[in-house]
Amino acid sequence: MTRQFFVGGNFKMNPSSLEAKKALCTILNDADLDQNTEVVIAPPALYLLPTQELIRKDIKVSAQNCYVKTSGAYTGEISPAALKDAGIPYVILGHSERRTIFGESSEFVAEKTRAALDQGLSVILCVGETLEQREANQTSEVVEGQLKEVVKVVKEEEWSKIVIAYEPVWAIGTGRTATSAQAQETHAEIRKYLASAVSSAVAEATRIIYGGSVNKGNCRELATQPDVDGFLVGGASLKAEFIEIINAKR
Ligand code: G3P
Repeated sequence: MTRQFFVGGNFKMNPSSLEAKKALCTILNDADLDQNTEVVIAPPALYLLPTQELIRKDIKVSAQNCYVKTSGAYTGEISPAALKDAGIPYVILGHSERRTIFGESSEFVAEKTRAALDQGLSVILCVGETLEQREANQTSEVVEGQLKEVVKVVKEEEWSKIVIAYEPVWAIGTGRTATSAQAQETHAEIRKYLASAVSSAVAEATRIIYGGSVNKGNCRELATQPDVDGFLVGGASLKAEFIEIINAKR
């Protein structure tokens, strides 16, 4: 089974001007990108539609979050139905910043995943442990606990719409990237969990990507790992080196 390599760029709350966003699109539009890699960029919500209009058609656009309901009195929230209506195909859910800063539980992330799948969206589902949890040898327990809630609400055939992003919290934005061995070990454990909790076919087919201080210097070695199917990139996705990360398998 070959899984298509996947590179996502999570811009987070950046840039803060339409001009800067256009500049990022121009860099990507002019780049020679590996056509075997699926590329998805996640700009801030305000820039989703302008990005969709500006970006080359072989790059997909993702929201960074959505709500569990499709409409109603939920000030400030983003409807998965509105994302579908806007033709936005992906949404990132369960990012550690949503979990730690905004208090999203794994149950809530599972509800959001269900709501997104109900609208036909594809989901980049983020999981990952804190440094304390890793140092206490709780990585597998934590990551499986996060996945378990989603397993409860997703049908086997729907897993083709989910990309799992393993993002150790201690590697996000810190410059302290997981080693290739650490990433491979946890990705393999996630795949093993999927085989037991869902099916071996889903385990084999599901892309498990790594996020946490990926850059042009470490992406190629990480990409050689058999269970690393790509990346979810934060800071480096805002720089020209994002192109080298997209082409890490070339
Ligand atoms: O979602 C990707 C992000 O959390 C990783 O951030 O800046 O460590 O690449 P960064």
